[in-house]
Amino acid sequence: MIREIIITSRNQDGSTHIAPMGVRREDGLYVVAPFRPSRTLENVMRERHAVVNFTDDVRVFAGCLTGRHDWPLCAAARVPVLRLQESLSHAELEVRSFEDDAQRPRFLCAVVHEETHAPFAGFNRAQAAVLEAAILVSRLHMLPAEKIQRELEYLRIAVGKTAGEREHLAWSWLEARIAEFSANVSPRSAAS
Ligand SMILES: Cc1cc2nc3c(=O)[nH]c(=O)nc-3n(C[C@H](O)[C@H](O)[C@H](O)COP(=O)(O)O)c2cc1C
Repeated sequence: MIREIIITSRNQDGSTHIAPMGVRREDGLYVVAPFRPSRTLENVMRERHAVVNFTDDVRVFAGCLTGRHDWPLCAAARVPVLRLQESLSHAELEVRSFEDDAQRPRFLCAVVHEETHAPFAGFNRAQAAVLEAAILVSRLHMLPAEKIQRELEYLRIAVGKTAGEREHLAWSWLEARIAEFSANVSPRSAAS
């Protein structure tokens, strides 16, 4: 099973990189698999630590995909990487092994510390819809325009029916990004 989380890693200059990522568990370890090229890949390779932040604040997912990287951070307990200040829980990771790959290398990471900060508040369909739209945004260059529009139309139903303020805001950032991308794609390249 893949869980969509926010991974924080330490940049070379000491600042923090924040990125949405899908992680899975294998034999008690976390598998982190960034596509090449990726800042997260470079950082985790160099620093050997990262934090997996479990949050239901979908603004962070949509924000990272739309140039909004400034989310409140605080120190982790056992690793030299900052974590999201507001998350439901987090796990602090140390790299145990690395499996190289031309497209998608894998880090296998042990949990050296984990903490719960807030209870799970239940599923929300708009949050799931925002995650799906964020994935579409991360693949805008690879997907046909009509597929994007068709999927957005469907996802918009859940947002309209079930979103709160955060989900509406996150959705509006993603819609704006998609509209901007569509406006810049010439009819010729859109057809190809
Ligand atoms: C829900 C979600 C899950 C994602 N999962 C992954 C992933 O597993 N691996 C990956 O390389 N990018 C993933 N992405 C895309 C990255 O967040 C995005 O490309 C990001 O820029 C990673 O590159 P960076 O480390 O250079 O920022 C995901 C995006 C979303 C919205």
